[in-house]
Amino acid sequence: MASVGVMTNPDDPLGLRDDAPLLDGWLSYRAMGPVPFGTPGHKQRLDLVGTVVRDDIPLYGGVDTIRQQAGAIAEADRRLARAWGADWGRISVGGSTHGNQTLMLALCRPGDTVVVTRTLHRSLLLGMVLAGVTPVWVRPDVDPTTGLPTHVPVERVAQALAVHPEAKAVFLVEPTYVGTVSDVAAHATVAHSHGIPLVVDQAWGAYFGFHPDLPRHAIQAGADALVTSAHKTLPAYTQAALVVARTGRIDADRLDRAFDATATTSPSGTIAASADAARALMERDGERLLGHLLRIVDHARGRLREVPGLVLLDDVVDPAVIVDRAKLAINVSGTGATGLAIEEDLVAQGMPVELADRDTVGPIISVNDDQDTVDAFVDGVIASVERQRTEPRPVLPSISWTVEPQVVLSPREAYFAAHETVSAETAIGQVSAELVAPYPPGIPVLAPGERITAAAVAGLRAAMADGTQVRYAADPTLDTLQVVATS
Ligand SMILES: Cc1ncc(COP(=O)(O)O)c(C=O)c1O
Repeated sequence: MASVGVMTNPDDPLGLRDDAPLLDGWLSYRAMGPVPFGTPGHKQRLDLVGTVVRDDIPLYGGVDTIRQQAGAIAEADRRLARAWGADWGRISVGGSTHGNQTLMLALCRPGDTVVVTRTLHRSLLLGMVLAGVTPVWVRPDVDPTTGLPTHVPVERVAQALAVHPEAKAVFLVEPTYVGTVSDVAAHATVAHSHGIPLVVDQAWGAYFGFHPDLPRHAIQAGADALVTSAHKTLPAYTQAALVVARTGRIDADRLDRAFDATATTSPSGTIAASADAARALMERDGERLLGHLLRIVDHARGRLREVPGLVLLDDVVDPAVIVDRAKLAINVSGTGATGLAIEEDLVAQGMPVELADRDTVGPIISVNDDQDTVDAFVDGVIASVERQRTEPRPVLPSISWTVEPQVVLSPREAYFAAHETVSAETAIGQVSAELVAPYPPGIPVLAPGERITAAAVAGLRAAMADGTQVRYAADPTLDTLQVVATS
C-alpha cells in the first residue's frame, strides 16, 4: 500500500487531483462548503440522518455545475478513453450492469443475433431482453482438477459464426470470475474477419494492462469495447464502472444514446470522482502498486501450496490458458473442508470473502491490501481447513460452468410472454420465463426463452443443497418455476 508522507493532504494523499478533473471538482466543492438549493435534500448536513450522507456530492450541481460548464465530465471521459487506448469512454455510476446494457443496446437492434459466452453475467442477459436480441451460446472449457472455467476456445466462436453469419457481435467475459482469460486477441481476429465487433465484459479485470505481468486489457488485445467495474478491484466507490470503446466498428452516437438511456439522470459525483481518481492512479502509479499486489499474492500462493489438499487453479490449469496472477482461486475439495464453512470462519473473523462455494474460495486481493491483511486471510483459511479437515471429496463442477442451454424463444419474447407457475418437475421440457442463477457467480442457469432441462433443475438443487444461494427465481425454494404459458 502507498505510504503517506508527513506533508501530504489527507483528502488527496497521492496528489491525484491535477490528473483527475472529477476528483478536483469534488474536492473543490467540498472545500467551498456551499449552502445548496438543489438536490440532494440532505444538503450535506448531518443533523438528521447522520454521517451516512457526509460524502455524497452530486455530479451535476456539485462536482461540475448543473449545466456542466466546467467541462470536467467530458475531460474525465476523454482521459478515461485515452488511458485504455480507446477513443470513446464514459464513467458510469451504475456498475458494469449499466455498461453491459449500454453495449448491448448500442450494438444491436431487435431481431439481431449475437454470439455470447455462457459465463455471462445476468446484466448482459437482461441487456438482451432490452435490445430484443437472440443469443448463440458458446461455453467455456472447464478445468478437470478444480471444476472451474478456463477459457472460451476460439474455434468454438469461429464455428458459431460459421453457422450464424448473421451475428452482429461477439460478447465475452474476460477474465472469468476465477481469473482465467481466453485468447482475446485471437477472438478479435475471428470477430473482425466476420466484420463484427468483439465486446468484452472485463468486470473483474479493471487493472489488466497496467503491469507487464498481468494480462493485457481487452482493448490492447484488439477488442472493440470493454466494460469494467472500477469498484470491484480498484480503490473506487461501490457502483463505479468504466466503459470504453474504439469507434471503428461501433457507432459513438449510439454508444452515447444507449449509455444515457440506461443511466440515472442524477449520478453520484462521489462515485464518479472516485472512478476518475482510480483511473488516474492506475495511469500514474499502476505498475508500482500492481507490482506490490503481485508480490503479496505470490507470497500467499506459496503459503497455500504448502497445505496438503489445497489446489490453486493457476498451478493446475492448462499452461496455454492465460491467468490473472493477481487472483487466487483455491480449490479445497482435497482437504474435505467446504468453501462455505471456510467463508463462515472468515466472516466470524471480520474477513468476508468474495467467492465461496462448496469446492472453491476466491478472495479479492487489491492494491489496497498489504502483506499483513493477506497473511491474516491466509492464516484464516489454513486454520479453517485444519479445523474441518476430513476425507477428500471429488470435485463437482458447478452447473454455472456446465449448463447446456437450448434456446427456444428470444430472451425478450419469453420475458414478456404470459407465464404460469408449475412444479419444477412439470417445468422440465417447458420454456423458462424467468432467470435463475446461483450467486455467486450470478451466471444464469435458467434464462428466459430456454428449455428447462432436468440437468439444470438438478444442478440448481445441488447448488442449494451445498449452501449456495440461488437468486432471482420467483419461488426461492425452486419447488415451482415460471414457464411460458402454452395456451
Ligand atoms: C462478469 C460480470 N459482469 C458484470 C457484473 C455486474 O457488475 P456490477 O456489480 O458492477 O454492476 C458482474 C457482477 O458481479 C460480473 O460478475
